[in-house]
Formats: sequence, structure tokens, C-alpha cells
Amino acid sequence: MREIVLSLAEIGCAGELAEIAASSDFCAKWSGADFESEIDNKFARIYTALCGMETVGFAAFRFCGEEAELTNFAVKARYRRRGVGGMLLAKCIESASAEGVKRLTLEVNAANCAAIALYEKFKFNTVNVRKKFYNNSQDAFLMLREI
Ligand SMILES: CC(C)(COP(=O)(O)OP(=O)(O)OC[C@H]1O[C@@H](n2cnc3c(N)ncnc32)[C@H](O)[C@@H]1OP(=O)(O)O)[C@@H](O)C(=O)NCCC(=O)NCCS
Repeated sequence: MREIVLSLAEIGCAGELAEIAASSDFCAKWSGADFESEIDNKFARIYTALCGMETVGFAAFRFCGEEAELTNFAVKARYRRRGVGGMLLAKCIESASAEGVKRLTLEVNAANCAAIALYEKFKFNTVNVRKKFYNNSQDAFLMLREI
């Protein structure tokens, strides 16, 4: 795999990000317009992972004071298990910290073993369980990491 380069998302890549979201289980199905508005939001950051000219993943968070929430996150299926998700998550933690954030939270489907394993590797702890949160059937874990 070529070198992965992380950068802040620009409006022009919103459509590509929406395609990655549409083709990934478990992430939020933001449209191109949703990505554009998030890229424009001064209290939000979206980082993209590029492999050559190809966008292969993204991670988004919103922040307010000392709190931030990871709002959307996906890596293209054929680029998974190569460290890209970890790089994106580390970048979000570093960037949130630079904004003065002290606590990063996220919500994850309890059936999403891959993401939960990644979050636990990054020292997120489950602090709450929202029963039947998704489609009135699957539970959500609320996870938190002190930065
Ligand atoms: C979650 C996701 C972003 C992880 O991206 P990734 O690039 O595969 O992650 P990495 O390669 O950096 O994995 C880092 C670590 O996470 C854990 N992990 C990742 N995928 C895993 C899997 N399928 N099974 C078990 N552990 C896994 C491992 O500890 C892994 O380290 P290792 O490869 O050295 O064992 C990716 O699986 C994805 O896009 N899933 C669909 C969308 C999604 O679930 N988003 C999160 C919504 S809350």
C-alpha cells in the first residue's frame, strides 16, 4: 500500500466521502451536502486519509468547550486492517486536544466488534449502554476517553 496522508477535508471531496459512508456498515449515512455543511462548521473537523489520489477513509468530530464527539468514521472496505482507521482516530484525538478538548465521546453499535476493538485499543471505556438504540433492536455503547 502507498503511503497514507491525512489532511483536513475540503468541500470538493464531500461527494467522495458520502460514497465511502454509503458503502460502509455502521457509520452515519451522510450525504454530500451533509459533509459540506460539516466541513463548513467551525466547531467540526473532518480528517481524510489519502492513498495517492484516492480518498480511502475519514473521521469526523464536533467539539464544544472541553467536550468532543466522534460523529462519523469509516475506512473503505479494501483498505481496512492496515492501520488507516487508527491513524485517523489518533489525528482526531490530537486535533481535539489542540482545541482544548478534555473528553472525547462516541456512540457505537454493540454489534460493531471491529470498531469497539479499535476504540478499546485507543483506551476508550464504555460508560453507558443505550438499550435498543438502533432500529429499536441493537444496543449502543457510549464510550469515552479522557484526552
Ligand atoms: C472501524 C474502522 C473504521 C476501522 O478501520 P481500520 O482501518 O480497519 O482500522 P485499523 O486497521 O487501524 O485497526 C486498528 C486496530 O483496531 C482493531 N480492529 C480493527 N478492525 C478489526 C476487526 N475487524 N476485528 C478485530 N479488531 C479489529 C485491531 O485492534 C486493529 O489493530 P491490529 O490490526 O493491529 O490488530 C473500519 O472497520 C470501518 O470503516 N468500519 C465500518 C464503519 C464503522 O464501523 N465506523 C465506526 C462507527 S462507530
